[in-house]
Amino acid sequence: MPKTDVVIIGSGLAALVAASRLCMDKNVIIFTKASKENSNSILAQGGIASAISKEDSWCSHLKDTMGAGCNHNIDKMVETLVRNGPTYILELMEQGMKFDTNEFGDLLLGREGAHSYRRILHAGGDATGKALVTFMMEKIKNKVTIVEHHMAVDLILDNNRCIGVTAINQQDENITFFAEHVILATGGCGGVFEYTSNDPTIIGDGYAMAYRAGADLVDMEFVQFHPTLLHVNGTCPGLISEAVRGEGAVLVTESGRRIMENKHSYKDLAPRDIVTRVIFDEMSNGEKIFLDISMIDSFNVRFPTITTLCEKNEIIIEQGKIPIVPGAHFMMGGIKVNEHGESSLRYLYAIGEVACTGVHGANRLASNSLLETIVFANAVADRILSETVDQVKYTSDIANGIHLNGIQLPSEDEIKQMMSKNVGIVRNQAGLQAVVEYLEPYTKLTTKEVGFTQASIVRLNMITTSWLIASSALMRLESRGGHFRSDYPETMSNWQGRLINRKKQDVFVLGGLS
Ligand code: SIN
Repeated sequence: MPKTDVVIIGSGLAALVAASRLCMDKNVIIFTKASKENSNSILAQGGIASAISKEDSWCSHLKDTMGAGCNHNIDKMVETLVRNGPTYILELMEQGMKFDTNEFGDLLLGREGAHSYRRILHAGGDATGKALVTFMMEKIKNKVTIVEHHMAVDLILDNNRCIGVTAINQQDENITFFAEHVILATGGCGGVFEYTSNDPTIIGDGYAMAYRAGADLVDMEFVQFHPTLLHVNGTCPGLISEAVRGEGAVLVTESGRRIMENKHSYKDLAPRDIVTRVIFDEMSNGEKIFLDISMIDSFNVRFPTITTLCEKNEIIIEQGKIPIVPGAHFMMGGIKVNEHGESSLRYLYAIGEVACTGVHGANRLASNSLLETIVFANAVADRILSETVDQVKYTSDIANGIHLNGIQLPSEDEIKQMMSKNVGIVRNQAGLQAVVEYLEPYTKLTTKEVGFTQASIVRLNMITTSWLIASSALMRLESRGGHFRSDYPETMSNWQGRLINRKKQDVFVLGGLS
C-alpha cells in the first residue's frame, strides 16, 4: 500500500497554503473528490479582512470579530488571527499576489457587514478567491501531487492515531493511502440545505469522516445563512457579495421599502445573522426582497463576477435591482482543533471551514474565513515541519474492494428539504426533534454497510452532518448568532462559553448528552 508524508483531503485555499509550505520538505498528496476547481475558496467574492490601513488596528478587528460572533469566540484564537493576519497577507504580496489597488498603487479596501473600518482586500474586483487559488496552484505546480476524482471515505486509525485514509475512485474502487500526517481541508456543508452559496460538492464530508473516526466536533449548531444569494426561478445560481452593500446597496421590498431601517445601527451592514432574519421575516409575510444597486457607479467594473452571474441569469443590472434570498453559506463549528490545527486524534489536523478554531464564535464576521484559512494553514504546516513522528506499523484490516448490498438511505433532495424546513434560519424543538429522530438510526451505519460507492457515501455523509447540526441545535436552548430558536429567542448569559461538544463515543439522548 502506498505511504507518503502528508495527505491533504480537499483542494481549496487551506489545502494549497498548507501544501505550499510543506512541499519544500515533505512528500505531499492532495486528494479531491471532484476536480481541483471544485471548492468554496474559488467562489469567494468579497475578500480578505485584515487590519492593515493606518487608521485601523488589530484591536478593532478583534472587537468586530467578537461582536459579530456574539462573544462565543475563543478570544485567544481571535487574537492569533487578527494579529498574525497582516503579516501573512504582506508575505503573500511580497511573493507576488496582486490585490486591487488604485492608480497610485494603494490597496483598495472594501467594507462589509459589522466591520468598523474599510479593511477588505480584494482581487479581480469580486474574484478574490479565484485569484488566490490560481496564485497558490502556481506555487505548488510540479511539487505536489493532486489526485482528482478520488473521494476520501474513512480515516485509518491505530490507537487513537491517524495513519491514513481510504478512498474511492470514479469506478468505485477502494484505495488505501497511508501517511504520517493527515490534514482534513474538505470545506463546509452548505450542500445539506436547498439554497446555498457553496460549490455543489460541499456536503460535509470532513465532519462525517471525523465523527466516524471518533474525533471531537464542536459548535455544529452554528450555521451562517448569507443574506444575499441571487434568487431566480426558485433557484440560487450564486452569491451577491456583501461588498455590494459595502459600496452602498440597500435591501428593499418590491415596492422599494428599505427593510433594514430601524433594525440595527449599521442598517444594511448589520451582522449577517441579523440581516438574514429580517429578510426571512419579510419573506414569511409574502414580500419579495431585492438589492437596490442603483446608486453604485460602474457596477460592472467593481463587480465583474456578479455582473456576469446576473447576465447569465437574465437579470438586467442597469435596472438597478437584484432579486435575492438567504441561503446556507458557512459552518462556524467543526472539528475541534487547537492553535496548531491539531484535532483530538494524533496526527489528524483540520484547516479551513471544516475546522473549528473558535475564531468565528456563533456568527462569522464577513471576509474572515480566507484570513483564518491562511493563518491556520500556516500554523499546521509549522507544526508538522517541527514534529518528529513516532514509528508505527502502517497496516490496516480494511479489506479492499468490498461492496455489500447497500442499505437504502434517504435521498439527497429529501435530506436538503428536511434540513431547510426544520434546521434553517429559524428553528424549534418539534422540527429539530423530527430531524434527529429520522436521521439518527442511519448515523450508526458504517461506510461498508451503505454500499461503499461514492453515491452512497455522499448520502451517508450528508445524513451524519445534518444530524450533527440538528442534534446540537436541539441541545442549545437559547438563540445566539447563526442559531435562532423561536421557542428560545433570547441569548442566555449562563450559556456563555458553554460548548456543545460532539463525539461518537458520547451516548446522545434527545435533549442532552448522558
Ligand atoms: C461575500 O462576499 O459576501 C462573502 C464573503 C464572506 O463570506 O466572507
